Amino acid sequence: MSNGILKGKKGIIFGALDENSIAWKVAVQAAAEGAEFVLTNAPIALRMGAINTLAEQTNSKVIPADATSDEDLEKLFTEAQEFLGGKVDFVLHSIGMSPNVRKKKHYTELNYDFYHKTLDISAMSFHRVLAAAKKLDAINEWGSVVGLSYIAAQRTFPDYSDMAEAKSLLESIARSFGYHYGTEKNIRVNTISQSPTMTTAGKGIKGFNGFYNYADQMSPLGNAPAEDCANYIISLFSDYTKYVTMQNLFHDGGFSNTGVSQVVMDKFEE
Ligand SMILES: NC(=O)c1ccc[n+]([C@@H]2O[C@H](COP(=O)([O-])OP(=O)(O)OC[C@H]3O[C@@H](n4cnc5c(N)ncnc54)[C@H](O)[C@@H]3O)[C@@H](O)[C@H]2O)c1
Repeated sequence: MSNGILKGKKGIIFGALDENSIAWKVAVQAAAEGAEFVLTNAPIALRMGAINTLAEQTNSKVIPADATSDEDLEKLFTEAQEFLGGKVDFVLHSIGMSPNVRKKKHYTELNYDFYHKTLDISAMSFHRVLAAAKKLDAINEWGSVVGLSYIAAQRTFPDYSDMAEAKSLLESIARSFGYHYGTEKNIRVNTISQSPTMTTAGKGIKGFNGFYNYADQMSPLGNAPAEDCANYIISLFSDYTKYVTMQNLFHDGGFSNTGVSQVVMDKFEE
């Protein structure tokens, strides 16, 4: 499915680690829809090398940037504009990591240095990206910035740990920055709350398979696949959604509005 709805648009895509990454699928689809863009990730993630294959496949350039470094981000926006020959129209923030989850710290016994890192990498980086773009006036009017969230921002899931707070903060930043960027430049800022998805970040959560299968059976449409998340993101980058801003948009097959499904209820019948 491609209709050229991003023809003439330029962008920056954060977070393609391997072909399972949501950002990877967005890059493939954005190229198919006619966009030109820069790919970026933390220098350490680039060492894996997979991103170069994606860059070749999509005719894009890779510029390293640690999303917690303001200096890296300013350099990224400057170099991206040089490569693309002007301002960008869209930015995807597809970044998440919790050292507490990685080190299997229980939520009630968090390491606070790790906690700072979780919030900085997974949420404050969204503010940093927006602030760097605004400072350099790097996004065209009616441009679109999208971050990726999860429903643990609103409801508790025992093993999502401090990522829940990171997602609440991320969604709040979309509202707050969206207000200022909207008033000054007509730039929209949204988050998409995606179903559990089999990626490196997803599988890092303890008990992820149970999590994944439960959500799948609770959702009338089943879990939303990463490719469809990419399509939704493309629509938010396009001119068909110009007045959508400051929203957290659920892309979850109906999970967020389901009390219980028949399939799940049947399991408790006996
Ligand atoms: N997988 C899921 O179940 C799921 C569900 C809802 C939302 N999300 C969110 O989607 C986004 C993308 O994750 P994914 O599932 O595609 O997994 P992924 O592991 O493929 O992507 C996470 C990315 O974050 C990057 N990253 C980590 N630290 C960074 C830093 N300091 N600077 C720059 N980049 C950094 C990683 O290198 C990686 O590319 C995340 O925000 C995640 O929380 C994922």
